Amino acid sequence: MRKWYKYWLDFEQQGVQRLSVDEDFSAHSKSMGGYKADPCCVSIQSFFSRFLQRNGVRHDCYDDFLQSHLKKNKKILSLASGRAANEAFLFQQGYCITCSDIEVPPIFYDVQKLFPGLAYKCLDILKTPASSRYDFIVALSLIYLFTDVQLKKAMTNIFQSLQDEGGGFMLDSAGSPDNFLAFVLHDFLLPVEIHARRWFAFFRKGKLPGLVVKHHGYRRTNSDIVKIAEESGFHISAQKDYCFLSEFRRSALLAKLLKSGSWVTRLFEKLGRSIPYVRMFYFKKSNVRRQDE
Ligand SMILES: C[S@@+](CC[C@H](N)C(=O)[O-])C[C@H]1O[C@@H](n2cnc3c(N)ncnc32)[C@H](O)[C@@H]1O
Repeated sequence: MRKWYKYWLDFEQQGVQRLSVDEDFSAHSKSMGGYKADPCCVSIQSFFSRFLQRNGVRHDCYDDFLQSHLKKNKKILSLASGRAANEAFLFQQGYCITCSDIEVPPIFYDVQKLFPGLAYKCLDILKTPASSRYDFIVALSLIYLFTDVQLKKAMTNIFQSLQDEGGGFMLDSAGSPDNFLAFVLHDFLLPVEIHARRWFAFFRKGKLPGLVVKHHGYRRTNSDIVKIAEESGFHISAQKDYCFLSEFRRSALLAKLLKSGSWVTRLFEKLGRSIPYVRMFYFKKSNVRRQDE
């Protein structure tokens, strides 16, 4: 596991500001651009177009993996649902899904008008298991926020929230892996780029903008994630990687390069196989492991 930082310039401030990882609901909500009511909630189409399609590839990857493993007649709980875009889409397709997060986000009251019957519960998975048992539990874009100790606690609570027979727990890695290429990108290229942009702004405007260094969360290898799941009573049933260019696009330089031609894209797609932005995992309870798996 490695600390994952994000960097940006703040033209209103000066100096370097260091922010710690988000810890409460209002900090999570702020990082997600606010969970306030949104005009797009006037119709299902504009809600999906704003929060599912426009938000890009990660939501499509989640949906592809979830729909290949979830079953429509089973009870599903989504943790850390946020605006619940993927969840509303599954609900519309006929899945029996309940959303949850530390608090119910204000936008959900409008989302619920578009999807009557879709329920949202308060659940802090670091504190307690769910109040009833589910066949499947899903956690999208959550685990990067947790230290190893917290992840183990969350997985133990998830284990206790699942029925013993069938089903299981599906999650994404929520961020690029902890390997050499990801290290070069996140801990070398991106910091160098932001410092270069900062000094460029100084030479253009005569004023050095502020630099924000945010401890965004944690990056893990697949085996880090599998090991903690196994210690919590699960075994891996399926794993799939998606989004091989998204990590490179964090760099302004590489994003420009990627626009320059199809052979560059093909080359980076090959390289990107080692740093997929979305890595999906499906874990089952070990005490129900079958002979044929
Ligand atoms: C990056 S957002 C992901 C939201 C949504 N799943 C998505 O993919 O757009 C992370 C979410 O995790 C929630 N969260 C953080 N800690 C949590 C916890 N201990 N239990 C439940 N949810 C948590 C936050 O409130 C936030 O809504």
